[in-house]
Amino acid sequence: MLDVILKRVSVRNYAPTDLSLGIRSRIDQVLGSVEPGHFGHQSRFALIGRAAAQAEERVKLGTYGFIKGVRYFIAGAVGMGENAEVDYGFALERIILEMTALGLGTCWLGGTFSRKEYGKVLKLAEGDFIPAVTPVGHSAEKRGTVERLVRWGAKSDSRLPFEQLFFTQDFSTPLASADAGRFAEVLEAVRRGPSASNKQPWRLVQRDDGWHFFLVRTPGYGKLVKAADLQKIDMGIAMCHFEIAAHALKLPGKWHDANPCIAAPEFGEYLVSWG
Ligand SMILES: Cc1cc2nc3c(=O)[nH]c(=O)nc-3n(C[C@H](O)[C@H](O)[C@H](O)COP(=O)(O)O)c2cc1C
Repeated sequence: MLDVILKRVSVRNYAPTDLSLGIRSRIDQVLGSVEPGHFGHQSRFALIGRAAAQAEERVKLGTYGFIKGVRYFIAGAVGMGENAEVDYGFALERIILEMTALGLGTCWLGGTFSRKEYGKVLKLAEGDFIPAVTPVGHSAEKRGTVERLVRWGAKSDSRLPFEQLFFTQDFSTPLASADAGRFAEVLEAVRRGPSASNKQPWRLVQRDDGWHFFLVRTPGYGKLVKAADLQKIDMGIAMCHFEIAAHALKLPGKWHDANPCIAAPEFGEYLVSWG
């Protein structure tokens, strides 16, 4: 899974082919095995065929032209509540990595999809919402023009340097990869994660008792998409990558809520700890 984390990339252009029955049943198996997240929210997911949605529910599953050629989506819902998006982000990123391992393309969509239509197909229960969805399918051979523009706009191929994301003791002491010891690879897995508009809002502070996760928000970003807190989804993705990498490297630890009362930077808030 560590290799898969490094291999995953957003795919917006797909080969217009169906998924085989074997692949679809494997996907159903993955979707059926989702457990509640650290904050107690259970997300539920479904594989939705575009043609079936149109025939049965008379809905067009739109992506505002961002995604081309795809025939399937994985969409999910979770009950509204504190940190629901974090748990959803954790769960859907795990699914996305399983899809990557199967050789399939995916792309997190938190803004560019028509929430109402997906809601009809999922038959949303009262109090549930859809934080994000992903197309799933075989990648087209080449990237399209829209895709290249989006990647250029979000600077999708780059990530912030290690020292701007990870710290030791407090936010005034950056942590270099060479000083992160056995955790260097774990932090690299976090750093390589996808995030909404590639804003990378996750920050980690190392102390003797473990790693403390902070969300440092991009000012004004919440106004772009009001239906879900996309930067909390990013935090769930960071937790997912951290846990997968720590387990792969057999580093002990688990999630707990233990606010270390470290002074956070402007727009920063504590979320969770690992230790
Ligand atoms: C929570 C979340 C929401 C996103 N929403 C969109 C979206 O609405 N449309 C889109 O084209 N890409 C979306 N993305 C994809 C990001 O732009 C992409 O992950 C980032 O630029 C890094 O590129 P990479 O995934 O290829 O590594 C989203 C990613 C995340 C994590």
